[in-house]
Amino acid sequence: MNKYEKYKNILVAQPHSRVLQITLNRSRARNALSKKLLAEMADALTIATGDDDVRCVVVTGDHKAFSAGADIKEMPEDGIPMFADAERLRAWKTIEQFRKPLIAAVNGYALGGGCELVLLCDIVVCGKNAQFGTPEIKISAFPGDGGTQRLPRLIGKARAMYMILTGAQINATLAYEWGLVSEVLPSDQTIARALEIAKVVSEHSPIALEMSKAEVLMSFSKPLDESLSLERQMLLWQTEDHDEGIASFIEKRKPKYTGR
Ligand code: CAA
Repeated sequence: MNKYEKYKNILVAQPHSRVLQITLNRSRARNALSKKLLAEMADALTIATGDDDVRCVVVTGDHKAFSAGADIKEMPEDGIPMFADAERLRAWKTIEQFRKPLIAAVNGYALGGGCELVLLCDIVVCGKNAQFGTPEIKISAFPGDGGTQRLPRLIGKARAMYMILTGAQINATLAYEWGLVSEVLPSDQTIARALEIAKVVSEHSPIALEMSKAEVLMSFSKPLDESLSLERQMLLWQTEDHDEGIASFIEKRKPKYTGR
């Protein structure tokens, strides 16, 4: 059995060498993020972390829903502590700390935890039918898997407050204008476009990709003087891939990157 073939709640494929595609596979529940689904996704990303054949991961759902968020039907069973469930929190942490580029291809609903999953992706493309929202307020909750912190940092306080306090959905055009997504496409082209971007990304040096991702994410978590100084320190690291990049440019050939 292929190392990614053991899951039920996600489907994992490798449509291009070095690109992994994770498709959320709970269509009938609008791809709600059950504890099992999150655990499978975290497991796949953990394997992908050590897999040199994976340099970029595309995450997608189906045409109706990227994901409708946390599985509300798991809530009555466990009550509020469900959110504090250690396995669930570990899974979110694994997604948050995944060092390789993550690209979201969103069609349909990306609500609650589904929207928060989008916020953890590095590049986001969506179909014209995409709808983003944080409806937790309607069940007397709030987007507690990072949404209350990442959303205002990304789209600004007033827009984040509007989404979080009303629970209203925004469409693809507004999501694009507010900077939540980088491209809006006809819905049947979303995945192909995400894979096209992933292919370009995956041709670059894996170590340079990881450093670039880490540096951009620092801008959300550290004061500017600290992140600028860390950026400068990272620039001083010499890598074999950087030497190879320079040599390939001078010798007019394609670089062969090793991730060292
Ligand atoms: N959890 C569990 N099941 C869900 C679900 C969810 N988040 N969203 C949808 N489903 C289920 C429905 O219960 C329904 O199941 P049955 O067929 O067994 O009745 C099935 O998926 C299809 O749903 P609908 O019939 O409602 O489909 P629709 O296309 O008419 O509407 C929807 C889709 C707008 C997404 C609607 O289902 C909906 O509003 N879902 C809830 C969205 C939500 O509130 N998300 C936030 C969750 S809380 C969260 O995420 C917490 C956090 O961040 C900390």
